[in-house]
Amino acid sequence: MSDLIRALETLEETALGSLDGASDVDSLERWRLLVLGRRGSLAETLKGLGTLTADQRPKAGQVANRVKASLEASFAVRLETIQKEVRRLELGAERLDVTLPASPRPRGSLHPVTKIRREIEGAFARLGFTSVEGPEVEWDQYNFTMLNIPPDHPARDIQDSFYIDGGSGTGGEMLLRTQTSPVQIRTMLAHKPPIRIIAPGRTYRNEATDASHEAMFTQVEGLCVDRNVTMADLRGTLTAVTRVLFGPDREIRFRCGYFPFVEPGAEVDMTCHVCNGRGCRVCKRTGWIELGGAGMVHPKVLANVGIDPSVYSGWAFGCGLERFAMLRYGIDDIRLFYDNDLRFLRQFS
Ligand code: DAH
Repeated sequence: MSDLIRALETLEETALGSLDGASDVDSLERWRLLVLGRRGSLAETLKGLGTLTADQRPKAGQVANRVKASLEASFAVRLETIQKEVRRLELGAERLDVTLPASPRPRGSLHPVTKIRREIEGAFARLGFTSVEGPEVEWDQYNFTMLNIPPDHPARDIQDSFYIDGGSGTGGEMLLRTQTSPVQIRTMLAHKPPIRIIAPGRTYRNEATDASHEAMFTQVEGLCVDRNVTMADLRGTLTAVTRVLFGPDREIRFRCGYFPFVEPGAEVDMTCHVCNGRGCRVCKRTGWIELGGAGMVHPKVLANVGIDPSVYSGWAFGCGLERFAMLRYGIDDIRLFYDNDLRFLRQFS
């Protein structure tokens, strides 16, 4: 019986001695299997309990329990010590500077045409104009006929149209709108004067593309209808907006121009924003840059939408947004806008 107790105590002593040598988690686990495992040295030694007599057993059992508890407690302490040490080394090795800025996330940017569009909307909003939209698939009736461009009118040839196959109905044939001017008709049919709107959006023409022509492009239309609206109001409004977009020194001029839905009609130019009107490469030495078309809404157009031309008058204008973006950012080819080349688009972020 004292043999077993002595064996247990010797086991405890040697096991505790070797525990100090276990310096990492792996060697500690090996120690646990060798000493405390199901086939470990403690289990082996305890097999001796079976050979003892009934009155010897309690004493030996007590010692066995104490040794087991002592070994398990020492194991737990050692494990904690090693884990703490591992953590300390890890923390020392992987330093984390929480004051560093976060790594940048890829971020998109607004398309240059969107930027110009928003600037124009902002400039007109300050003058009391609401920005409205119309459909890109439009009735012939709104795109042409009600704008005083009847079916046999030569102006239809200037704006080669994409017609929609099988698209005909109450508004005549369907087409991709060739201009934003039909939004004038839609607005005047839906609202009584006073009307002050701009209508930006995409337009389509079936024509060969080159550096200054695209089959799809963007226009912005403007419309003001009220009592006593004059061409001077048109001039004042366009001057104010041009100065917001291209600088406070800009002057504008009207040249005679023909558009079926206005009378009188005008082509609008501004003094070149690069040379201030002296003449340079951008304005082709003329000092002037073309902005778009404008004029007083034709009485027939007002009558077409049920507005009495003897009571009301109005002005309208229309211009291309890509051209503005090209002038502003020095872009020399309109086709770049819709190529989706990130190297181009990233320059506007
Ligand atoms: N819609 C015309 C075009 O695409 C531009 C235009 C000219 C619009 C004169 C107007 C205007 O509202 O009054 O060429």
